[in-house]
Amino acid sequence: MSGNQSQYSHHDKRITLAFTGASGAPYGLTLLGSLLAADYQVFLLVSSAARVVLATEEGLKLPSGPDAAHKQLVEMFDCDPEKLVVCGKEDWFSPVASGSAAPKQMIVCPCSTGSVAAIAHGMSDNLIERAADVVLKERGQLLLVVRETPFSTLHLENMHKLSAMGVTIMPAAPGFYHQPQSIQDLVDFMVARILDHIGLDQKLVNRWGYDQR
Ligand SMILES: Cc1cc2nc3c(=O)[nH]c(=O)nc-3n(C[C@H](O)[C@H](O)[C@H](O)COP(=O)(O)O)c2cc1C
Repeated sequence: MSGNQSQYSHHDKRITLAFTGASGAPYGLTLLGSLLAADYQVFLLVSSAARVVLATEEGLKLPSGPDAAHKQLVEMFDCDPEKLVVCGKEDWFSPVASGSAAPKQMIVCPCSTGSVAAIAHGMSDNLIERAADVVLKERGQLLLVVRETPFSTLHLENMHKLSAMGVTIMPAAPGFYHQPQSIQDLVDFMVARILDHIGLDQKLVNRWGYDQR
């Protein structure tokens, strides 16, 4: 990270969010917007394949350079520039690369089966894999919003291995009992479940058994 992005001033609420190359860019963008709106400082990591998916699914051409991507996303979400830190693929000096500085929570959304495999085997070959490895070794909270269908035995074994280590595996599988009227309603369902898991009070979707939005 360089340029005019935030230096790492202390924030109470810090989280790492990674977009990888599974289908589901709308989940990632809605989640990012929700975290920024909730005043989190978000350390955002975007894989090369995720940029292809963002362009394909959302028509969003995110530059590969972290500073240019930061500028574009700050404008898009109209957020405080300090609240968003976009990290490069091999920015080993980023706080997320070290247990001494990394946020204790990390979400990979959407999460490809390739990234599941790399995380399950501690590859740490790019900053997303390293950040996940750090959260695991520090016994933090790691959520993987995996999307593929069907799953192979290999996918299931990798997810089982991570689940046994305390990782939350959240397949991108929205329900229909909230009677969605739009694609965004389905996206909101998934994002609401993710926010529930990190302990953030969400107003995107009614809670089961409650009436009010
Ligand atoms: C438009 C598009 C959709 C994709 N959807 C999925 C998917 O749903 N699940 C998956 O595991 N991989 C999917 N892939 C393949 C991954 O992007 C590919 O395996 C990539 O190497 C993952 O790398 P990453 O985990 O570093 O982002 C998709 C690729 C593209 C271009």
